[in-house]
Amino acid sequence: MTDKLTIIRPDDWHLHLRDGDMLTGILPETTRDFGRAIIMPNLVPPVVTAKDAAAYRDRIAAATPTGSNFKPLMTLYLTDNSDPNDIAAAYNDGLISAVKLYPAGATTNSESGVTSIQQVMPILEKMAEIGCPMCVHGEVTDADVDIFDREAVFIDTILDPLRRALPELKIISEHITTKDGVDYVASADKNLAATITTHHLIINRNHLLVGGIKPHYYCLPIAKRELHRLALRAAATSGDPRYFLGTDSAPHTDPNKESACGCAGVFSATNTLSCLAHVFEQENALDKLEQFASLSGPAYYGLPTNTDTVTLTKESTPVDVPNRIETAAGPVTVFDPGFPLYWRVS
Ligand code: NCD
Ligand code: ZN
Repeated sequence: MTDKLTIIRPDDWHLHLRDGDMLTGILPETTRDFGRAIIMPNLVPPVVTAKDAAAYRDRIAAATPTGSNFKPLMTLYLTDNSDPNDIAAAYNDGLISAVKLYPAGATTNSESGVTSIQQVMPILEKMAEIGCPMCVHGEVTDADVDIFDREAVFIDTILDPLRRALPELKIISEHITTKDGVDYVASADKNLAATITTHHLIINRNHLLVGGIKPHYYCLPIAKRELHRLALRAAATSGDPRYFLGTDSAPHTDPNKESACGCAGVFSATNTLSCLAHVFEQENALDKLEQFASLSGPAYYGLPTNTDTVTLTKESTPVDVPNRIETAAGPVTVFDPGFPLYWRVS
């Protein structure tokens, strides 16, 4: 039995860091274990221009704990009115690593998102030309589409037509939650990869809804039925480089989660690596963890892997994970996988 595993330091290919007191409070939860992270731009107001991204990058740098080599990989929030030249300059200067497409209204702080792909086609063409990747929140927002079907419908009605129209655009299907998403990525021979979150490998919709509603398991895309969770686990542990880790760790304060209209988002930065080691061990795939968490992401983004390592050690007693992180913006509950964790990161 393996009880010690040393892997290249992981990166998080989908992370919400917020701003101000929240940023300061939660950033150490990521910088402790991760080398880099793709930083989501859905601030209020969103990070739309190169200037916004440079300023946000500097605020993240200022909040980074001393001694940490963490590198934020910035993104721009695509709007109907984004300037393709500003995007191209930001990408060519190395200021941003990707552009994020949120269908307007799909999730937290996505009100200024894209209203239709046609609106942004000239921008996407420019991105394809210069090789700038697009991260996409793959859910339709039509009121008449059931929330559990929104990812599958997005693939059929938006993502697949877009990929046929613009095969050269490099796409990351963010936080896939369905077998449909897994299968669609598997069917693509190039320019498509997907991130998978920690929590979607662990919870299905029963965890969210059975025995009382659990606001800390509410996120978007919403957790689906068990067959989808199993498909995600198979994909993540397969070693297929098209699936890699994006935690979608998305802090909201407890009062904003535990509310009559609670915010979407699971905060998993603190214990993600312990959770993943647990999942990969259950799937007899500890030897694939490095591929998923440390190798496939940089390969797809065309970046070098990290040069240092982390070591995971399996303890005989459960490791201590705080229930919540106290920040000056308020308390943030840490993802509870529902079982004790034995893998400690060092
Ligand atoms: C994210 C957030 O809170 O910003 N919420 C979530 O449930 N994942 C937005 C997102 O990535 O959809
Ligand atoms: Zn997200």
